[in-house]
Amino acid sequence: MIDSIRGENLLSLDELSREAIVEVLDTAEAFVEVNQRAIKKVPALKGRVVASLFFEESTRTRLSFETAAKRLSADVLSLAVASSSMKKGESLRDTIATVDALGIDAVVMRHQSSGAALQVSRYVPHVRVINGGDGLHQHPTQGLLDAFTIRQVLAERRGTTGVESGSELFEGLHVLIVGDVRHSRVARSDIAAYVALGAEVRIAAPGTLLPECVAQWPVGVARDFDEAIEWADVLGLLRLQRERGSGSFVPTLGEFTATHGLTVERARRIKSDALIMHPGPMNRGIEIDSLVADSSAAVIERQVHNGVPIRMAVLYLSVAGSTEGQGS
Ligand code: CP
Repeated sequence: MIDSIRGENLLSLDELSREAIVEVLDTAEAFVEVNQRAIKKVPALKGRVVASLFFEESTRTRLSFETAAKRLSADVLSLAVASSSMKKGESLRDTIATVDALGIDAVVMRHQSSGAALQVSRYVPHVRVINGGDGLHQHPTQGLLDAFTIRQVLAERRGTTGVESGSELFEGLHVLIVGDVRHSRVARSDIAAYVALGAEVRIAAPGTLLPECVAQWPVGVARDFDEAIEWADVLGLLRLQRERGSGSFVPTLGEFTATHGLTVERARRIKSDALIMHPGPMNRGIEIDSLVADSSAAVIERQVHNGVPIRMAVLYLSVAGSTEGQGS
């Protein structure tokens, strides 16, 4: 177990202790204030270079990581993969070596292959590697920003701050994760974060979209979504990942929606104070009805908003590795 990501890579949440996760959440809370200033910049990573390498599509993760790095005063190298020499057949290893030769301190990367971030960390052991999503494996900053969002909302309701509450607000919290769990790196990272923080997690999915090794996961399996919906304090919806072939795991999209979509009718039966979450991008009308996505119970935009302070915290702790300069 890792008790702090200071000076460390961030490849997965599976090996982070509760203390390490709380440290990131607390650090992000300090950066929320920076993001509210007229001039949203601190010099914490001045002179450092962060390479942004997204080999798979992204809107939220790439933009918020690049925003976070710039707000920490780092220089950002952003590789446009579609027009890079990878299109001429250059390997991942040679691409990383080329970017490293320009003089970088950190790589933020997304790749379609599980384990790609670990592989890159072995190619450039002197560079900090932050995983922005690798295949079906992990999306650690999504797990952190989702935990941050839950803690922030619950703390606001109590009239306290997340830092004051630590991980206490997660003790006994019921989290239900619904949808395409099999193909979801978000589910894997969310579960690692929520369980480490003390929540009780259940998953609900059509049998074909449950992971094969689900018995080894630290979660309960809800056989009936319609029953579990009333148990949940937090409903974490997942995108049906059609680019990873999810469509062939369900008879039709309509049948998936009928059994596991958060329809208006189902949303009427959730607890009155339950949170509805979705990492985006959403398939409106498939895993979530558009009216539900835009309802007051949904914190989906807040999740996106929190991506910047969480990624500032991760870059800051991992790359700077100390607390100097945070509030300057
Ligand atoms: N949630 C998430 O990873 O979104 P993007 O694919 O847009 O980065």
